[in-house]
Amino acid sequence: MRYFVGNWKMFGVPKSINIVNKINAFVNLDKKYNKKYKAIITPPFTLLETFSKALKNKRVLIGAQNCFYKEKFSSDTGAISPYMIKKLGAKYVIIGHSDNRAEGDNDSILKKKVTFALKNKINVIFCIGENKTQKNKKFTNKVLKKQLSNVLEKKFNKGNIIIAYEPIWSIGTGKIPKISELSKTIFFIKKSLKKIFKRNNSIKVLYGGSVDSTNIQQFNSIKILDGFLIGGASKTSKKFIDIIKNYYR
Ligand code: 13P
Repeated sequence: MRYFVGNWKMFGVPKSINIVNKINAFVNLDKKYNKKYKAIITPPFTLLETFSKALKNKRVLIGAQNCFYKEKFSSDTGAISPYMIKKLGAKYVIIGHSDNRAEGDNDSILKKKVTFALKNKINVIFCIGENKTQKNKKFTNKVLKKQLSNVLEKKFNKGNIIIAYEPIWSIGTGKIPKISELSKTIFFIKKSLKKIFKRNNSIKVLYGGSVDSTNIQQFNSIKILDGFLIGGASKTSKKFIDIIKNYYR
């Protein structure tokens, strides 16, 4: 099963449902491949309810881009809990995106977020990735291993965890890793996950960072890569659909 996850970041208004409807129509008609992948859109919190209601019983699934590190209700102004996003129809939640790490989400906060999201039976898309300096110093594996082992625990329900490897230097820059390097990194991530969960596991690992319809086909050669977290190119139905089409071409 491959994952095509669109992270809209701070984009979208209620009528943007048109974009999701078009993607949904495409997936429904894509009988040749649609059993091979899941299409997920993560709009801002403000659109979760509109989108998940409109898309009930349909092929595109809806997720949130973040959640607060407490389970249900609390006196934290402006915060939105895993329980609340679940009630709005979110089946997935992105946790640990580098945008949010840069805004102060540290490992201990992220561990709480993952714990409470899993407690609410939401699938967690946990993001990791090195910055440019770390890459240049060849610290990538060390950084990734730490990001994984500082947050994930053996007791977590691994069936509800997906990892998204998003090198920070690649996000929004048009730069993607060399396919041979990416393949090794994905292998390393899977190996590290096996160590954390103490046995063979089937945790999916996605890649994110400047994925678009012109470069997607290259990734197809990495058989251990389970899908993509797509930013900029997920905000129009054409670009998102072309990514899926070109991946399978
Ligand atoms: P871009 O695809 O725009 O590089 O963004 C990637 C990303 O941050 C997805 O979470």
